[in-house]
This record gives sequence, C-alpha cells and structure tokens, in this order.
Amino acid sequence: MKIALGVTGGVAAYKAAELVRRLQQEKLDVQVVMTRSAQEFITPLTFAALTGKKVITEMFGERDASPANVESAIEHIAVAQRIDLLLVAPATADILGHFAHGIAGDFLTTLYLATKAPVVVAPAMNVNMWEHPATQSNLAALRARGVHVVDPDEGYLACGMTGAGRLAATEAIAKKVLSVLGLRHDLEGQSVLVTAGPTCEDLDPVRFLTNRSSGKMGYAIADASVRRGAHVILVSGPTDLRIPESVDWVPVRTTEEMRTAVLERCGEANIVIMAAAVADYRPAASQAQKLKRGDAGLTIELEPTPDILAQLGGNKGGRTIVGFAAETERIAENARAKLQRKGADIIVANDVTQEGAGFDTDTNIVTLFLRDGREIPLPKLSKFDVANRILDQILTLRAS
Ligand code: C5P
Repeated sequence: MKIALGVTGGVAAYKAAELVRRLQQEKLDVQVVMTRSAQEFITPLTFAALTGKKVITEMFGERDASPANVESAIEHIAVAQRIDLLLVAPATADILGHFAHGIAGDFLTTLYLATKAPVVVAPAMNVNMWEHPATQSNLAALRARGVHVVDPDEGYLACGMTGAGRLAATEAIAKKVLSVLGLRHDLEGQSVLVTAGPTCEDLDPVRFLTNRSSGKMGYAIADASVRRGAHVILVSGPTDLRIPESVDWVPVRTTEEMRTAVLERCGEANIVIMAAAVADYRPAASQAQKLKRGDAGLTIELEPTPDILAQLGGNKGGRTIVGFAAETERIAENARAKLQRKGADIIVANDVTQEGAGFDTDTNIVTLFLRDGREIPLPKLSKFDVANRILDQILTLRAS
C-alpha cells in the first residue's frame, strides 16, 4: 500500500525519518512530501536516501512551459489518486490551520484537498500553541471531517517548556496508520478458515444448481484476516474474484467437496467463518448423460446436502465458529434458531432484499447475533469493513 508522508516545519521533523523506517517495516511504500519550512530542520536528502525516491519539495519546478514542468504542476493530482493514506507528522499549527480552512498554497495543502484517501495528522508544537483555541477549533473541524488525530504526548518540549505538544511516539503513529489502513496485527498467531462463494450441484454433465453468491463477503474476510496477521485457509466455491495475497486457497465446486476440504483443514484453524452460500439441496441423482428435452414436464428430486457448519459446531474444540444467514424475512428469529441449531458462536445475519446488502454488492448491512443473547446491528459498510467488525467481535469473544 502507498502512503504520502507530509513533513512540516517543527523540531520534531527529524523524528519523521524514524517513522519512515517503521512504516517501511510494514511493507508500506512511502512518498515523502516536505513543506518549505520543514527543509529548514532536515534535508530532503535524508528522506530520499531512506525511501529511494525523489522527495516532493515544491509545487512548481523551473519557470518554463516544458512538458516536465507541466507534469510537476499536476503531480499533486497523480499522487492524490495513487495513495491509500496521507499522514502528516509532525503537523504544525500552521498546516492544521491550512487544512481546516482549505487553503491550498503548496504541494502538501493541495494534496490534502485533492485526495480522497484517509488522512492522519500527528501534531507537534509548543504547549501554548497546542492549547490555543484557534488550534483546538481547527482540530475539531478536522476531526468532524473524519481526519484522524494522533494526540501529542506531554513532556519536555524543545522550546524549554513542559506540557502537551511533543510528537506522539513513532509506535503510536504507526499503529494508528495501520489501523486506519485495516492493517492491525492483532490476529498474529491465529489460523482462520473461511468458506466463500456459492457451491454448484450437478444435474447432468452440462447443468447445475447454484445461487447468486459472488464470494465478495468471504474474500473480504480472508483479505482482512491476512492483513491483520492471521494464517488464512480460503475454501472457495467458483467465483471471478482475485485471490487475496498470502492465503492458502482451496478451490471447490460442490458441497461435498467443500465439506471434505473444511473437515480436512479445520484441525489447523482456531477460527472458522462460514461465509459460503452452500447449497441446501442437491439432485438426488446426477445424470451421467445430458438430460434430453421432451414434451412432458420434468420433476427433479432433490436431497438435503450435509450441513457443514452444524457438523463443525457439534465438534468445536477450542474453535470460534461464525455462520452466516442470508434471509428474506424474520431475520432475528431465523438467526437465533441457527445459532442454536448449528452450535455457532456468532451468526451474521443479513436481509438480502435490502438495497446495499447481500449478494454481489460491495457493501453489506448485517446484524451480529451472539450466543449470550446480544444483538449488534451494524450500519451499511463496505464488505471489508464488515469483515473487520466481525473479526473484532471474534477477538473480543476469544479474550473473554
Ligand atoms: O441454514 P442456512 O443455509 O441458511 O445456513 C447458512 C450458514 O450455514 C452459512 O454459514 C453456510 O455457510 C452454512 N451452511 C453449511 N452447510 C450447508 C448449508 C449451509 O455449512 N449445507
């Protein structure tokens, strides 16, 4: 993932060099942007050496109309679109004021207005400047706009005074960046088995029964789990999705194949999340030859498939088990019944008839039903955010 690190002019600017190293340890690609005053405290060369990239120090290069200069004049737009996050550390009172009021006179302030990526600021300044109502009201405005603020520490300040204003610790800033990017490492050492997508049940060599599941929810869970440091086994029915990096991907087609894969691999997992839309019925007999068209009606006998989740729930060991319930009516009643019947710890229920929920959407609207009777309704979120909320809840349950 790519982040832009804005360095502004405060004594703490030298600490940004250590921050670059720390972020690189998390495999983040860091582009440094320095304000003019930052360059009074530390030279761009330090950051260029650390990142292996040209540091962006100004909005316009030479005063000519050469193609290279036109390119540099619109570079802020290119950087704005490329980054996953804008971090400013240290952030002076001046930059907070510019951001709060949308005054864009240099590269960093223009980048702030031009990017849709999340923004994190780590202020550092003299205690009186920090406590000044102007600074606090600028911060309140930025917070209200969704900017994440890593509050400064208290202590001895370079100006000789003592109080709040010292740049937060590198680790605290890095942690906030990782958490905003969804890269927390709180699943380190955990092994998560996720099922995703539909299953296909063959009627004959060319026809099958399936459902509208796209696999997006399960893949988002696998992706979020990997980013948080888990080992992930993704047992997937057929989908068109990109396989998330670093997952152990096990492709399957039928419920029977999914059951075999899950039972074979669940011994390795301490968290099992069954997001697949598994067929509940399959043809009692699959025809070896293609069914021929005829004049009479055709009745196909279906038999129930094995319930993989119920089977796992009956033999849980120390595992935390999460099931999904895609419903079109009586959500709570059905979810509670499923919690009991399948021996799950959490049922994630959604009304697939709602706009922005269910199959093949990028968002979902779900309620988590817990064994202890609690119900946690979540707002409409991206499937990636829903995945993280489910993982948060699993961690809370496992810690209690
Ligand atoms: O009973 P229902 O199909 O609505 O339950 C949904 C949940 O049960 C999902 O977590 C799904 O992955 C799981 N399931 C299963 N095996 C089946 C059917 C559903 O594991 N045969």
